[in-house]
Amino acid sequence: MDMTNCSAVFFAIALVFITTVITMVSRRARRMRVDPACNRLPPPPAVTGTSSIVLLHTLLKKGFRAMIHEQYTKLGSVFTISFFGQKTTFLIGPEVSAHFYQGLESEISHGKTLEMTVPMFGKEVIFGVDIATRMEQNRFCLDALKPSRLRCHVGPMFQEVEEYFEKWEQQGTIDLKQELEQLLTLISARCLLGKEVREKMFDEVFSAFRQLSDNSLHLTSFFFPYAPFPSSWRRDKAHAKLKNIFAEIEDVLQSLIDSKYKDGRPTTEAEVTGLIMVILFAGKHTSSASSTWTGARLLSHPQCLEAAIKEQQEILKKYKGEIDYNTLLDMSVLHRCIKEALRMHPPAPTFFRKVHKNFTVRTREGHEFEIPRGHTILSPLVINNNIPYIYKDPGVYDPDRFGPGREEDKVGGKFSYTAFGGGRHACPGEAYAYMQVKVIWSHLLRNFELQLVSPFPETDWLKIALEPKERVMVRYKRHPPCGLYTEN
Ligand code: HEM
Repeated sequence: MDMTNCSAVFFAIALVFITTVITMVSRRARRMRVDPACNRLPPPPAVTGTSSIVLLHTLLKKGFRAMIHEQYTKLGSVFTISFFGQKTTFLIGPEVSAHFYQGLESEISHGKTLEMTVPMFGKEVIFGVDIATRMEQNRFCLDALKPSRLRCHVGPMFQEVEEYFEKWEQQGTIDLKQELEQLLTLISARCLLGKEVREKMFDEVFSAFRQLSDNSLHLTSFFFPYAPFPSSWRRDKAHAKLKNIFAEIEDVLQSLIDSKYKDGRPTTEAEVTGLIMVILFAGKHTSSASSTWTGARLLSHPQCLEAAIKEQQEILKKYKGEIDYNTLLDMSVLHRCIKEALRMHPPAPTFFRKVHKNFTVRTREGHEFEIPRGHTILSPLVINNNIPYIYKDPGVYDPDRFGPGREEDKVGGKFSYTAFGGGRHACPGEAYAYMQVKVIWSHLLRNFELQLVSPFPETDWLKIALEPKERVMVRYKRHPPCGLYTEN
């Protein structure tokens, strides 16, 4: 072989070697870029296979809260339960909840988790429409319930409350749950639907509304909203009836009728009637459960009851017997009693979302996990509101935990208290809800001596809005006509 051939062979070998090295390096670099498996955070610890069967057994035997609490103790604040290929990840505590509440709708949303509401309220609103329209409709609800509009509801609310309790005898025994449910229905009719509905169509509207609620609020309709059960037919019939009634009323929630989308389009009749049903529904069951739990808790904690009555006496003195919007805002003891009842008995046991884009969480202990796209994620209030490192003795009814100097929810950080949700979908009815529960309880505390005569109620876990399972029997006795207020 001459020198020329020798160099050519050497050059060819060198070229092949260099090409091979470059290819290997670039493949490796590409592999690292495209599939960063080595850098990826681990998924959360998971319960799969036979362990999930054991879990199902715990769920049926001990209930939802006990099942989640068991896994929280075993696996920590982030874990996945895998059932028939469905992956559900639980996020417990404020440290891992920020993205759940604040994530962009394109990354994390309700998805199809609330599909059951489409046949209830109609395909023209909320979960029947695209995300952009839904966000605008949420804004309409927010505007209709904003504090500047709430002021004018106080007078009619008090009037309804006074008229209702005037019908009680001098003394007697009632089922608080049933009484407050009826009263809140009257308040909703008057304040949310208008005087016309309250005076002329009350019975018609609320028997249809009860049909809609009773046939939608069970776990079967949550999991199988379109199944051909008799309850689904009754629900659809009630929806159609309410739609016809609302379509004929002209001054119902004028602000919804007057609402306009960003492109200037006015709301349609089907949208207004659907949104009215959403607001009525979102407000009615939550508020009646909260006012009953507040009562049950107050009446079984004499010290808290005494403090709440004392506050009413002071308020009456301070405002010379006049109660209005500002007076209600001044009732901080009663406010904390309601807030604490809601911490222990949130009407919604858990919130759901669907993950559309992977995200990471970091636990309090510093562990990081990646939650993959496709998972359903849950923020279980029944655990979140009872975390011992945030709430001292969480099983104890202690309204002062929210008072000056303690403020355990604030110390715990954002999303420590989520009875009204938070972030993007925070409840727009929170101020309205506090107002109506305060109007009811300030009237009861000022005018009656009350005593709980049935055992403290258990929770009905089969309902979507958690309410007392049994009747809540209360013995009452009217105060003398001057009530708690004496001018001096
Ligand atoms: C004590 C009473 C109430 C409680 C505990 C409560 C709780 C909640 C919670 C936790 C959410 C958020 C659900 C989620 O993130 O998936 C929510 C949403 C909502 N609430 Fe309330 N609520 C109450 C009363 C009311 C009232 C009185 C109204 C109306 C009059 C109302 C209207 C709404 C609406 C329209 C939404 C949907 C907001 C959205 O998806 O962006 N709520 N509520």
